[in-house]
Amino acid sequence: MLIKQKAFLVKEKTMSNNKPFVWGNMPDGREVICYPLIRGGLKAEVLNLGGIVYSLQVPDKKGNHVDVMLGFDTPQEYLNSDTYFGAIIGRYSNRIEEGRFELDGQTYPLEINNGRNNLHSGKNGFHQYLFEAEYDESKPYRLVLHGKNDGVEKENAESMAETQGFPGTLQLKVIYELTEDNAFNITYEATTDKATPVNMTWHGYFNLNGHDSENILGHEMKINAGHYTPFKDENMIPSGEAAEVTNTPFDFREVKSIGRDIEDDHPQLIIGGGYDHNFVFDKEDGWCPVATVNGEQSGIAMTVYTDRPCMQLYTGNFIVTQKGKMGATYQHRQGFCMETQTYPNAVNCKAFPADVLMSGQVYKTSTSYRFIAE
Ligand code: GAL
Repeated sequence: MLIKQKAFLVKEKTMSNNKPFVWGNMPDGREVICYPLIRGGLKAEVLNLGGIVYSLQVPDKKGNHVDVMLGFDTPQEYLNSDTYFGAIIGRYSNRIEEGRFELDGQTYPLEINNGRNNLHSGKNGFHQYLFEAEYDESKPYRLVLHGKNDGVEKENAESMAETQGFPGTLQLKVIYELTEDNAFNITYEATTDKATPVNMTWHGYFNLNGHDSENILGHEMKINAGHYTPFKDENMIPSGEAAEVTNTPFDFREVKSIGRDIEDDHPQLIIGGGYDHNFVFDKEDGWCPVATVNGEQSGIAMTVYTDRPCMQLYTGNFIVTQKGKMGATYQHRQGFCMETQTYPNAVNCKAFPADVLMSGQVYKTSTSYRFIAE
């Protein structure tokens, strides 16, 4: 039975009673609600703001819960930050070259918010959006978030200010679900009334030793990817080539620590300040495991499953010493992101498969992060 969200609201900032609660307010006063999810050994707290995963608690090898998700304590910190901690990213993640693209003979200019590019759909991206939440008390392991983003052709001035610059009204549904076997699943479903590029992802920063521990360089990582898409220059836009990882620091096909090669003088690592690159999986279309990561102190091992062809591995290179949630101080490379997606900037790059959602089609993709402790 679906229950009315309001009936659940309690004022304390705690998940001890496992009920949704008012976590804070948007600058215009709207309430930011925190939804606790629980199942198997996992516990998560998710905000209707940006679909942000505020916390994700996972049992370690001693059976203690470890919060593996970096975050902030207030809506304002999330809104002011360019880290995108824990948030849903879209309608088009990653960099769009020079903040523009062409579709059906029309050029669409976008906000330039990262060097010369558009990154993660600009300030009106879903990472700052207040979603409508659907939460069922008898299934406290599942949260469905509903969002809408108007296309540029919308005439009303108020909604114009809120578009991301893309054509077509996009209706988005994000489904978060914890499973009995300790997986955290994310499914995206989207429709549009006009052809538009769509490339959704999620920007959780993991530290499998705990969000408040040291940097992630000692984590052991394996990625089933024989290719990656190198940047053409400092502007961090892929050249269109899928380069082989063999004999480069980008070869994660055998387990190695994230830090083993990160300081190599490979030109691509120098541009990225570390790993900030798109890996192309060795897989057919369809759902399968693509990567594993192991927290060397906690014994928590995470396997990533997805139906997407690619993943941006970002090793927190832009994190500078800063205040995090619950009294933590985050340092350079304190967390890593595994942002499953399609090929970056495919909308401008003919070498990459097209990623346009047509009116009448349903965009549906899933990614899962599954945990065990060893
Ligand atoms: C990543 C991106 C990085 C950085 C980060 C947010 O997705 O690849 O370059 O911008 O988001 O700080």
